[in-house]
Amino acid sequence: MVKTIVISSGKGGVGKTVTAINLASALNSLGKETILVDSNLTTPNVAVNLGAPVIPITLNHVLQGRKPIQEAIYQHYSGTKIVPSSLALKDLRGISALRFRPAIDELKKHADYIIIDSAAGLGHEALLPFSVADELFIVTNPETAAITDALKTIKVAEKMNKQVSVIINRIRKDKKELSDKEIKAIIEKPILARIPEDTAIRESLMLRDSVIHTHPRSSSAKAYRRLAEKIAGIKPEPKEERKENKTNRQKTSPGFFRWMFKED
Ligand SMILES: Nc1ncnc2c1ncn2[C@@H]1O[C@H](COP(=O)(O)OP(=O)(O)OP(=O)(O)O)[C@@H](O)[C@H]1O
Ligand SMILES: [Mg+2]
Repeated sequence: MVKTIVISSGKGGVGKTVTAINLASALNSLGKETILVDSNLTTPNVAVNLGAPVIPITLNHVLQGRKPIQEAIYQHYSGTKIVPSSLALKDLRGISALRFRPAIDELKKHADYIIIDSAAGLGHEALLPFSVADELFIVTNPETAAITDALKTIKVAEKMNKQVSVIINRIRKDKKELSDKEIKAIIEKPILARIPEDTAIRESLMLRDSVIHTHPRSSSAKAYRRLAEKIAGIKPEPKEERKENKTNRQKTSPGFFRWMFKED
């Protein structure tokens, strides 16, 4: 069954987009057909972080009723498929939230997993993808403000009867951050993944790719891969195959979309 996972937070800047990109990339490298949707309409980052050039058709055009979603699916050279949002302010006009669900339903015909990156906060835009979520992953950091805001988002999701899990990102394991025990006591939700603070993340962003591809042996890549394996319910990939993946990856040049395509 196709699963739609919405990546949300509460507080901004905690690592939703990084998580969405890397989770989609890790699922894709496990052979799962995955489409990453950027529902952060006002400040979209997915395509920027993956080095997309000018994008002719976006989620905005779909929500405006001007284009079918099949025409807004692009493929990063690494293989990850994305539906980007528009960077142009004018493309925010005439958007209807009612077109979101039918668009995601259409995408489900083409994927095993739909990963939706969302906007921070609890406004209309942030909550737009909640209704289509089979599961919500709340990304937070091990600090009081981020956990407090995550808690608010969890409450809203629970009111909508959504299954919620938490991803703690940017763990440094120093004395200044909240411990696992303290976090669990506040949020009372399962912690699905712990992603370490890792300089490889910023390096991967500079290379316009996921850390899964640019730094497959980094601590963050391992953590995202473990998360993908957990979600997909499969055993960890043998080390030899990972080496193979890396070799294949290096044959392509980073920083741009190799091709775009329409789904049939
Ligand atoms: N595990 C990590 N280790 C190191 N740096 C990280 C990590 N996760 C995220 N970052 C840094 O934090 C920045 C913000 O991450 P990201 O854009 O994913 O946050 P966001 O929650 O999507 O933000 P917004 O709310 O604005 O959409 C990234 O550009 C990256 O530099
Ligand atoms: Mg973001």
